[in-house]
Amino acid sequence: MMETLTKIMATALLPVTAMAFWRMGSSLLTYYIYKRFTVLKELMDIGKARVDDERIAGTAVICGGSIAGLWAARICADHFEDVVVVEPEAWIMSNDGSKPIYDERGDKIGSTEHRPRTRVHQYFAAHVFWNLSLLALRRLFPDFEKELLKRDGKIVEAELNCYTWAGRVFRSSKHWYPEGEAPQIFSCSRDAYERLLRCLVMKSSSRIRQVTGTVTGVKPFADDHSKIEKVVVSKSDSDGTKLLEIPAALVVDCTGATQAGFKWIKRLCANTNSQEIGSDRWNKLIDSYNIHGNWKAFDFFVPPEIRAVVSIPGGYDNYKWLYTFIPFPGCENKLFLINRIEGHRIRYSFYGWGNPPIPESPEGILDYMATVKSDVPVPQWAFDLLSQLLKVNEIQVYTGKMPLMNWVHYEKAPFVPSNFVAIGDAVMKVNPTFGQGCTKACIGAIVLDNLLRSPRYAQTRKVVPGFSSEFFKIHHDKIVDAWNGTKPMDYMFSTTTPVKGENLDDEKISGTFALLLLEVATEDSDVDALLCHMRQFIAPAANLYAPWVFWRVLKFCLNKKIRKLWEETV
Ligand SMILES: Cc1cc2nc3c(=O)[nH]c(=O)nc-3n(C[C@H](O)[C@H](O)[C@H](O)COP(=O)(O)OP(=O)(O)OC[C@H]3O[C@@H](n4cnc5c(N)ncnc54)[C@H](O)[C@@H]3O)c2cc1C
Ligand SMILES: *[C@@H]1O[C@H](CO)[C@@H](O)[C@H](O)[C@H]1NC(C)=O
Ligand SMILES: *[C@@H]1O[C@H](CO)[C@@H](O)[C@H](O)[C@H]1NC(C)=O
Repeated sequence: MMETLTKIMATALLPVTAMAFWRMGSSLLTYYIYKRFTVLKELMDIGKARVDDERIAGTAVICGGSIAGLWAARICADHFEDVVVVEPEAWIMSNDGSKPIYDERGDKIGSTEHRPRTRVHQYFAAHVFWNLSLLALRRLFPDFEKELLKRDGKIVEAELNCYTWAGRVFRSSKHWYPEGEAPQIFSCSRDAYERLLRCLVMKSSSRIRQVTGTVTGVKPFADDHSKIEKVVVSKSDSDGTKLLEIPAALVVDCTGATQAGFKWIKRLCANTNSQEIGSDRWNKLIDSYNIHGNWKAFDFFVPPEIRAVVSIPGGYDNYKWLYTFIPFPGCENKLFLINRIEGHRIRYSFYGWGNPPIPESPEGILDYMATVKSDVPVPQWAFDLLSQLLKVNEIQVYTGKMPLMNWVHYEKAPFVPSNFVAIGDAVMKVNPTFGQGCTKACIGAIVLDNLLRSPRYAQTRKVVPGFSSEFFKIHHDKIVDAWNGTKPMDYMFSTTTPVKGENLDDEKISGTFALLLLEVATEDSDVDALLCHMRQFIAPAANLYAPWVFWRVLKFCLNKKIRKLWEETV
């Protein structure tokens, strides 16, 4: 009797036990995936400075003083005795590079101009900065929001008003946060962000120094070629050009699009006979492809007299991102965006794949928008707004070339000095359609912080062997989603020149799936929220393999098929 009872109970409990194990297993898996592919856990630790007698001796030399460089400087100031930022462009290192151009009302302060950056070509291109950047900024700079508002920047709902050929995507995922506030991002131009970040970083620590000059190379220790002793800087002034050598405990390559660090390491390797590695093997470390195109931005000033009547959904004070259009490969290759930036300006920006036509003049935008090929036409308000702005005729125009998309695979390099790391565009340049570049730079800095904080390195006062290879391995996984999330779609455009040795067809399956997901997202707000979280680096792309996503995609495809059959029969 007893035995039968036990048996019955065991049988009854089996599904429950199995369920519990399955739950535990899947939450362990979730934990592992988040830990490996996002920096959400690491983020919690940033900003805690080492005590003085535990700091790493010597100087962290940051090469490049733009977004990645500023993030790296802020992080290194928590771990090193001394931090030097080397940047060739003199004016950004002066007060000019940090001070605001507009006050909190959006009025211009004095005569400060929008100066172009020689080496940062996308300085005036449309930029969105994702949630992860905001989370990190808020942790590091308690007064971030106050300072942002003082410069006429805004904290807004993460809502891009983004339309694809099939409908709207990247809507605010507030339905995932029924109790909390709606997901947020900060809104301002790339140049305003850089100025503000420089101001906050330089104010944050007296350990950070700036040197005007161009890093031209690195020198290893005479008796240990696996470690950099000095960074060589070329400094020009009225007396001519001088070479300066800065002893370095750590070298952080933040030279962005120029990816100068790769050349330094390659040269260092060639000069030290101990490492016989052919240049061919080095060049294979870079995956690079070309989507072909230029970008152009028109900044229209909105004068006070038309602010109340301007044709913007929700009114002029609705500061959300106004409009984004993403085309369907093969049908259209133009991409455009409309957003409001500080200083009462509305920016219309254009780019795309395969050298799409770009408006020659501000008036040309009307025709451009009218001829965009999509099932969802550009809304009337965008035309009306433009007509109003054209009448005002206070316009700035900026243009630039789309860079090559590429990824320097340091994690596969045959040799990297143990005290050399690279972050930001110096490692990877991705298609800017999903606006990930600046947040990717912030992620690099968080990875660096976390590694310097890990027990292996926190106990020592120097950067020990193995540091850089460990950094590049971890960093690879934290940024891989940005590459894998853009390259397949880029390969769906027949005009793209693929990575050497690859065919566009190699990404056919991933590309088709990526496009299908966007289409599903137009109807399914959970899939949309997931994609939006992935783009913001607050969810790993591996989440797409969840059974519920598979089910929703299947349901969408079946529905679509049935709808099509129905339309054919009636
Ligand atoms: C059209 C376009 C649109 C974009 N839109 C977005 C977007 O919406 N959101 C987003 O997040 N990102 C966007 N990006 C990408 C983003 O702009 C970059 O990812 C970001 O600027 C990278 O910052 P960085 O500091 O790594 O490099 P960079 O901004 O390239 O800065 C590199 C710095 O290094 C300095 N430097 C160069 N060589 C040397 C040297 N030898 N020694 C010392 N210093 C040196 C330069 O002067 C510069 O200050 C866009 C890019 C493009 C092209
Ligand atoms: C974004 O950041 C804010 C705080 O900075 C937070 O409240 C919000 O939940 C974050 N998440 C998303 C999905 O935007
Ligand atoms: C990224 O894409 C490559 C090539 O398609 C693939 O081998 C790799 O597993 C992908 N990584 C992740 C984390 O998705």
